[in-house]
Amino acid sequence: MPTPHISAAPGDFAPVCLMPGDPRRARHVAETFLDDARLVTDVRSMEGFTGTYEGRPVSVMAHGMGVPSVSIYATELVRDYGVGTLVRIGSCGSVQPDLDLRSVVVALGASTDSGVNRTRFGGHDLAAVADFALARAAVDAADALGVAVRVGTVFTSDLFYAPDPAINELAARLGALAVEMEAAGLYGVAAEHGARALTLLTVSDHLLDDAHLSSDDRQRSFDDMVRVALATAVA
Ligand code: ADE
Repeated sequence: MPTPHISAAPGDFAPVCLMPGDPRRARHVAETFLDDARLVTDVRSMEGFTGTYEGRPVSVMAHGMGVPSVSIYATELVRDYGVGTLVRIGSCGSVQPDLDLRSVVVALGASTDSGVNRTRFGGHDLAAVADFALARAAVDAADALGVAVRVGTVFTSDLFYAPDPAINELAARLGALAVEMEAAGLYGVAAEHGARALTLLTVSDHLLDDAHLSSDDRQRSFDDMVRVALATAVA
């Protein structure tokens, strides 16, 4: 400690860490929702903060884009800083006609085209799943807060710009609610290191009809999801 990607001191992180993709969103969460938030790491401008929420210690640190990036930060947080609970707060593209923009998705499990979990598991397919207690707490929190929520699987893709959109239709036929880029990696790290993990996503775009949120709507739905994540974190 510090690790190659995190400059915090031992004990700087809370037992639970919220993880948006974008570092500016980590700062936004710290400044808007946490009390007494302080910066604990900023290697590569990937800022991490620790403060309190309803009197309980909570950290927030971005994980960047894609499975390799989330794998690095999640591994170091769990293995080196003793973080036991990781809640990704990201965005996704809906692939279901009845999954509307602004909804919050609770990603119970993640299919993927990434090879990391097979690499991790000797060539076998790992069940990349959320922690059940966290998923249940998130659904309860969303209901209590009046936030529309859907629970199901997502497709974690290495390619934001997929050369053939048919892969999204296939994922939808196989039950995926949405496409995103990190959940399977996060769940693999959690499985390897014995942590609890959950991915919450706001639907920022619709891959079937190209609809997408305005930046104001993006911010509003992100904040709704953060409220759900924080209630989950302290449940
Ligand atoms: N996150 C938000 N929209 C996405 C998309 N279309 N593909 C992958 N990740 C996303």
